[in-house]
Amino acid sequence: HAVVHHKFEVRRTSHTRLCTTKSMLTVNGQFPGPTIYARRGELVVVDVINRADANITIHWHGVKMPRYPWTDGVDAVTQCPITPGKSFRQRVLLSDEEGTLFWHAHIDWARATVYGAIVILPPKTHTYPFPKPHAQLPILLGEWWNADVQQVYEDFIAGGASAQLSDAFLMNGQPGDQYPCSEQDALKLSVQPGKTYLIRMVNAMMNFIMYFKIKDHNLTVVGTDGAYTKPLNTDHIAIAPGQTIDFLLEANQPPGRYYMAARVYAGPVGYNYIPTTGIMDYVGNYTRPRPSSPVLPSFPEIDDGARSTHFSNKLRSLADDNYPIKVPMNITHNMFVTLSINTWPCPTNSCVFGYMLRASMNNVTMSLPETQNILEAYYKGIRGVFTPNFPAMTPIIFDFTEGYRRGNVAPAQSGTAVYMLDYNSEVEMVLQGTDYGVGDGVDHPMHLHGHSFYVVGSGYGNFDPNTDPPNFNLIDPPLGNMVAVPKNGWSAIRFKANNPGVWFMHCHYERHHSWGMKMAFIVRDGEGPNEKMLPPPPDMPLCEPPHTASTI
Ligand code: C2O
Ligand code: CU
Repeated sequence: HAVVHHKFEVRRTSHTRLCTTKSMLTVNGQFPGPTIYARRGELVVVDVINRADANITIHWHGVKMPRYPWTDGVDAVTQCPITPGKSFRQRVLLSDEEGTLFWHAHIDWARATVYGAIVILPPKTHTYPFPKPHAQLPILLGEWWNADVQQVYEDFIAGGASAQLSDAFLMNGQPGDQYPCSEQDALKLSVQPGKTYLIRMVNAMMNFIMYFKIKDHNLTVVGTDGAYTKPLNTDHIAIAPGQTIDFLLEANQPPGRYYMAARVYAGPVGYNYIPTTGIMDYVGNYTRPRPSSPVLPSFPEIDDGARSTHFSNKLRSLADDNYPIKVPMNITHNMFVTLSINTWPCPTNSCVFGYMLRASMNNVTMSLPETQNILEAYYKGIRGVFTPNFPAMTPIIFDFTEGYRRGNVAPAQSGTAVYMLDYNSEVEMVLQGTDYGVGDGVDHPMHLHGHSFYVVGSGYGNFDPNTDPPNFNLIDPPLGNMVAVPKNGWSAIRFKANNPGVWFMHCHYERHHSWGMKMAFIVRDGEGPNEKMLPPPPDMPLCEPPHTASTI
């Protein structure tokens, strides 16, 4: 493999937005962090060096890490954190991914400031499955808190639900000119009339699905989550946290200045609906006078969930001779998994609603081991770190009438339950949202590590095991690592468990993730020599305190 080397120094550096200067965790002092460029099939080696005063891990979101979960970078799941002063060489082998992915911290809420794009170009001998763009640009959507994010996280987890509200949304780290004291801080893009640009959009935000639009311009979606799609012409994009969307932008309008803007599609009452904006300017010789202040594009109604679902339902795999698809057809595991928000008693008197919110999958609120990690425990046979009994469920009928929302959910149990899969198992998983209403019941953008999956179906209300599966799309379903499950609906995914290791699955809304909407798969080794997990690298971060004989 050709090898691409990077050095990631995690430090606290000082950054100013909205006239607030704060010190925050960054990689190489950049916010967003550096973009990794590589080609399909190349090996990326990243030396992560912790020069900060906080623990860190780095995850390569959407990279499958074949047989090598060791550097997947998930705190408490695949490793113990890199402590201050320590470093970890992470080996990130790109296999069949091509398009855009991203990397981010995977510990507490550190990913709020520690993230960057991964651009995976075609191999040298190949081209894009669309005309070569004139230029390309990653655009990362993010959030800005004036407060320290670790503090925000700790308040949030203690029951202060309002702590989730950030102060601004960002495009490539810039809020744009709609926020107080942000006039100059906007992403700027120059385009030449008649040329086509490839925009690689990443939603690196913590808690919001976003709509993105460019005033007066149509966009052609060509990929999502590191896989190509059939071209989809649209005037707006809906993008969930953790999702990437690649689209072509043709500079085919009268030369001038146009807004690019992204705005939340749903959120808690009283939330921030100010869009983050960027400015697109046509360059070249033209005489048309420039408007002094461009006009914002118009967005769908707030909480128009149908609109967002509608967008993702239109995505289709390219599924041609060069990019064939392999939808698993011999399902060995039919899983039905509920996604719920649960209420827990408030341990103090300070909870915003008088109770604490937690979240669960099949009524298990996952807790992560504190001084251990699941992968190492599995590999070394250390007991007491996880239980291999993630519960099975059969489809249930939920009442989605207003008022019955909480009644939908059995009380959740806390646990560290994993689901065991034999090598090459073929899994169909129906993810059923159990919440009715707005507020904490927004959609669940679910993310799986170590595999890509096909989204073969989705719908509102209850999944029907008799009438829904015959309508599944097994011809050209989109391939990815994210699916936005409607809050009161369902999505069905299929994947082949051909990657031995420990692989996390969770809601990519950071608040639901923190509340426990997560689980893990363990994919056992296969028989063949190339069907087994590779051994761990010598510099795996140590778990502290060291294991004692009594835990073994
Ligand atoms: Cu992008 Cu487990 O995350
Ligand atoms: Cu969720």
